[in-house]
Amino acid sequence: MKITVITGSPRKNGTSNYMADEFIRGAEENGHNIYRFDSAKADVKNCISCNACQMGTRPCIHKDDFVELREHLLNSDLVVFVTPIYYFGMTSSIKKVIDRFYSIDPQLKAKQNKAILISVQHSPVDQVKEALNTHIQSIFNWLNMENAGIINAIGIESVEQLKQTPYPKQAYELGKSL
Ligand SMILES: Cc1cc2nc3c(=O)[nH]c(=O)nc-3n(C[C@H](O)[C@H](O)[C@H](O)COP(=O)(O)O)c2cc1C
Repeated sequence: MKITVITGSPRKNGTSNYMADEFIRGAEENGHNIYRFDSAKADVKNCISCNACQMGTRPCIHKDDFVELREHLLNSDLVVFVTPIYYFGMTSSIKKVIDRFYSIDPQLKAKQNKAILISVQHSPVDQVKEALNTHIQSIFNWLNMENAGIINAIGIESVEQLKQTPYPKQAYELGKSL
């Protein structure tokens, strides 16, 4: 299976990237092909709503790192979104990437990919993850993506503490189960 993993944290050695690493380790052990896109490090310009793409019938005017991601998205069977929660949602860098889906909306809908969300938050309160889960499920529905799993790591303070929780194993096993 071809899998595109899009991460959202600017912290290379942070908690959500650790979860992404564990997911990828499991998926690679099972022979899956991974393309990883670290949105916080990438050059992805904001969608400026110029509508030159006509929402999918023409190319986007921006020539940046999304051009490469686009090809992987359109050739993947599964898209995995991995993000810390910032103010009850995904980070702005990963949202910026999703906004650029606008230029390939019809192609993505027609593909009927599967999708997974992995999030990490500091708060132990369920309401925080529920805000993100509602948002991402709406995006999955819009893009005809089948929800293939959600892992919300809550109450996370550091990578060391994350390692003491069941969440990294859940991420590894989700990758391994595909
Ligand atoms: C700008 C900002 C906003 C945040 N907002 C929330 C929030 O709304 N709820 C929460 O539980 N944690 C929030 N956090 C904490 C992060 O979700 C948490 O530290 C997470 O583990 C960071 O992931 P990372 O290590 O992958 O960067 C916020 C952190 C930052 C920097």
